[in-house]
Formats: sequence, structure tokens, C-alpha cells
Amino acid sequence: MTISLTWHGHATLSINSSGTKILVDPFFSDNPVAKTKASDVGADYILISHGHGDHTADALNIATRTGAMIISNFEICNWFNSQGYENVHAQHIGGGYQHPFGHVKLTVAFHGSGLPDGSYGGMPAGFLLTIDKKKIYIAADTALFSDMKLIGQVGLDLAVLPIGDNFTMGPDDALQAVKFLDPQVVIPYHYNTWEPITQDQHAWAERVRVECACQAVILEVDGTYSL
Ligand code: NI
Ligand code: MN
Repeated sequence: MTISLTWHGHATLSINSSGTKILVDPFFSDNPVAKTKASDVGADYILISHGHGDHTADALNIATRTGAMIISNFEICNWFNSQGYENVHAQHIGGGYQHPFGHVKLTVAFHGSGLPDGSYGGMPAGFLLTIDKKKIYIAADTALFSDMKLIGQVGLDLAVLPIGDNFTMGPDDALQAVKFLDPQVVIPYHYNTWEPITQDQHAWAERVRVECACQAVILEVDGTYSL
């Protein structure tokens, strides 16, 4: 079975596994680098790491159109309920659940999680996904933390890490994260959306190549990596 992961710019990903579409942190309409329209995106599941608008802005529209199940923390799932959207599955940090497409565990992330309307969004999260025996860690918005070593102990096929700096880990800390996580492949994201998170992704990939036993894959917007 092939799993494909597409980067839509910023922190928006879509994962396709045997025809099931898993959308992560949908941000299209106000995303200055997006090439895909929110109205064209399919989804069976929508994973939301935290409440910030650059991770949630298009979630309700896409969920309402597609009927996708939203998977997020308890507080964000409650917020979607309060918006009239019922198809949610709440989890929380450290908790895993076997969904039909694969296993989803919410991991620690050091960040904020307030929703755009000021509602409390609980604790921010990353995702450890196990889909067809492949282990994929999506760090989401976070600082570097040494417990990434524990996440890496499962043996990661792929890690998706922010490198933008300013709001999240920058290139130096993301390089250390690669060393803690020791994945087979790393894909950087959450960069080059706006001026404060401008980075040279190719220079970063070269540092990974020199210093880590890991392949760095740079995706163009709407580019896909298959594993
Ligand atoms: Ni954020
Ligand atoms: Mn963000």
C-alpha cells in the first residue's frame, strides 16, 4: 500500500491512504502561498493540531461540505460542536485511538491554541500516525523539546517539522529535532508563508544531509511525497 503526503503550503497537509483522505490543519483561503482552493479539497478526516487560524481557518467549511470527521483535542472538538458541527472525535495529549484509516496519537507541542474568536483551545498537539505500519510524526507548531527522543523511539518513517522560526522551531532547533527523532525522512514545513518565517529550505536540507542519517525532502507547494 502506498501512502502519499501532499504539502499545500504553510502547515496544511493531505495524506491519502488507500483512497482515504486525511487533511491536516486546513488553511487555504487566506494562505498567501496556497495553490489549491478550499472548495476543491476532499476530506474524510480532518486533523487539527491547535486552534490558531493558520491551522483551522477552512476546517468548518470543508467539514460541512465533505462531512469529514474532525479529530482534535477535547476543547477544539467542543468548539466545533458549538459551531453546529457534530462529527468530531476528541482525543487528548498522550492518547491514541485506532481509527478506520490508522492509529492517531496526540503528542506534546509547546505552543498556544486559542481559537480565532478568542475561545480556549486547550493544549496544542502534534500527531503520531501509524498508517499501514508506517510511522509518521507531524510535529505541528512547537518549540524544540528533548522528549522528541521518546517519540523517535517508535522508529519513524517520516517526520514533518516546522523550520520557520519566530512562531515555532527555527532551522537550528529543527536540525536538533531531527537528531532527537532520527526519522528515515524529514519534510520541513511552516516556513515561507510570510516574512517573519522566511527560510532557505534547501540550505537546511543540506545541513540535514551533512549532519544526520536522514533524508530531507523539500516539497514544492502541492508537491507530494510517497512512502
Ligand atoms: Ni500556531
Ligand atoms: Mn501556525
